[in-house]
Amino acid sequence: MKITGNKILITGGASGIGLGLTEMFLSEKNSVIVCGRRKEILEQLQQKHPSVVTRECDLSKEEERVRLFEWIKECHSDVNVLINNAGIQNWVTVEQEDFFSKAKNEIAINIEAPIHLTSLFIKLNQLSTIMNVTSGLSFCPLTKVAVYSATKAFFHSFTMSMKKELEAKNIEVIELIPPAINTDLGGKGLHDYAPPVSELIASIYNQLKEGKTTLTFGMSDAMSKAGPEQIQIAFDRMNNQ
Ligand SMILES: NC(=O)c1ccc[n+]([C@@H]2O[C@H](COP(=O)([O-])OP(=O)(O)OC[C@H]3O[C@@H](n4cnc5c(N)ncnc54)[C@H](OP(=O)(O)O)[C@@H]3O)[C@@H](O)[C@H]2O)c1
Repeated sequence: MKITGNKILITGGASGIGLGLTEMFLSEKNSVIVCGRRKEILEQLQQKHPSVVTRECDLSKEEERVRLFEWIKECHSDVNVLINNAGIQNWVTVEQEDFFSKAKNEIAINIEAPIHLTSLFIKLNQLSTIMNVTSGLSFCPLTKVAVYSATKAFFHSFTMSMKKELEAKNIEVIELIPPAINTDLGGKGLHDYAPPVSELIASIYNQLKEGKTTLTFGMSDAMSKAGPEQIQIAFDRMNNQ
């Protein structure tokens, strides 16, 4: 993708990796629109970067996704990049009482939202790029976040298909595959051991400049290229701790 002069919607772009992407694209002279549920972090983002347009939206709800798209069509029909970044991660076991309700919510945000937004946003005449944020766990699950890992495997598979299918419409589909990164994903403190967002973003920036459409970093590079034996070794190491 060209790295400047775009109008970009970043879902979940007010925190974590999304915020890193927001600030990277702002510094390259792009217009950025960010949506998310929490009003206070959207306001903080707006105060820090007054040019950012923000929108409260719960992407787990179908009607809110449609409302978001209708607003974009009416007020920002020149959006040419969609970044499906928003996601949640539930640390839960299948035996817990609330397992299924949590799983349904995770599936709604991590799967239903990006596939629905894809089907809506390709109707925009100027749409040229979709970036999907999957995970190193798309390739090798962490059993403590079994549903999360499965949603990311789904999203990786869907992204591969979209890469091919949307070629005909001249829409480039980019997959960003982060490894564990220090954000509040899953709850505060759970990812403190991992590299900071700034390191991921610095690497992503260079890969985008090189024209890459599969963006990896650290362990996610190894996992995305691993064969079955390497995946089994990684699975045992990750899940026997
Ligand atoms: N951090 C990692 O280790 C890691 C590794 C691989 C992949 N990823 C992926 O990277 C993406 C960003 O995660 P992150 O690590 O940056 O965590 P994060 O800081 O928690 O960011 C998630 C973002 O998604 C938004 N979001 C969640 N549910 C939403 C909903 N129902 N509607 C609208 N927005 C919603 C959140 O905003 P609100 O809460 O305000 O709605 C938040 O801004 C996710 O897709 C995650 O799966 C992260």
